Amino acid sequence: MSRKLRADVDLDAIRHNFRLARQQAPETRAVAIVKANAYGHGAVRVAQVLEAEADAFGVACIEEALELRQAGLTLPVILLEGFFDATELPLIEEYNFWPAVHSEHQLQQLEQAGLTQPFPVLLKIDTGMHRLGFAPEQVAAVVERLQALSCVSEVILMTHFARSDEPQVDATLQQLERFANAEEGLVLSACLSNSAAVMAWPKAHRNWIRPGIVLYGSTPFEAPQGADQQLIPAMTLSTEIIAIRDVAVGEPVGYGGTFVCQRPTRIGTIAVGYADGFPRHARNGMPVVVNGQRVPVAGRVSMDMMTIDLTDLPDAKIGDRVELFGRQMPVEETAKWCDTISYTLMSCLTPRVPRCYSE
Ligand SMILES: Cc1ncc(COP(=O)(O)O)c(C=O)c1O
Repeated sequence: MSRKLRADVDLDAIRHNFRLARQQAPETRAVAIVKANAYGHGAVRVAQVLEAEADAFGVACIEEALELRQAGLTLPVILLEGFFDATELPLIEEYNFWPAVHSEHQLQQLEQAGLTQPFPVLLKIDTGMHRLGFAPEQVAAVVERLQALSCVSEVILMTHFARSDEPQVDATLQQLERFANAEEGLVLSACLSNSAAVMAWPKAHRNWIRPGIVLYGSTPFEAPQGADQQLIPAMTLSTEIIAIRDVAVGEPVGYGGTFVCQRPTRIGTIAVGYADGFPRHARNGMPVVVNGQRVPVAGRVSMDMMTIDLTDLPDAKIGDRVELFGRQMPVEETAKWCDTISYTLMSCLTPRVPRCYSE
């Protein structure tokens, strides 16, 4: 690797985080969410580590599911949005994928497909997210139609929370109540909990949990609380200083001149930019860690480089490592400086960033 940017991925940390999530809901089965290339960590490598621990994997589309099968992974794979096209159904049958069914459109396609090999189906209920799912009052009839199909071995009820990361807000209680109304009279397994619900809403644990972000060591909450303080960051994004220059008072730095030197300033240039997936709108002042010390970003993120203010770090030199987020710099804090969330910082890293694994 000529360029020194890399994302170190600690697979042991992922195993630890998975176990921590499981400990919160020890009676349940657990779907490890590995969609979006395991939030940027590498779906196959993460799935290989969790295959002995999890009960299923969760992905967003059949291509992601097939990637796991092609790598030899055999656990059930849940398609969280189900199928987008009826042509996927024979593959679902062949590879033991468990689709969500969230709409009348999908239900009719399933009814017309004439499949015979049975697989579980997750019936998605819209309890307040208003993104996907059947209305609670439709659920009983949909269950009946699904159970009439020879290709459906089990119906698992599913919903998704919009605000479970806000423990003080009533929205999750309201969604739980709507879910309870929808399942009245039915005796079926239920799968409701994303990471935040695993950590903060025991009532939502039920039969299956589906944590994503906590597996990667990031908290879904605004402020860490409870067990999430024991999470270990799995990804560290770091690069090197490739140039250093002295810039005079009043001189602008970078595109658009958004940073103007207020003092004689030692500017370091580092090899990471928005073409690596790092957000262009990271603000001036965002801290990065050089030799164990925080220094601020100075100037706009460009395609392949960023500039940082090394004035208070006179010993810093070309070749020193710079951590953007990870073990020394919490990803949640970096995300705030970029007006985003940890999910995007990790999952939007482009293939140009080498992932380096340790166990
Ligand atoms: C349907 C569904 N379940 C579970 C998850 C995992 O969520 P989190 O990463 O917040 O745990 C997601 C993530 O977007 C999702 O869309």
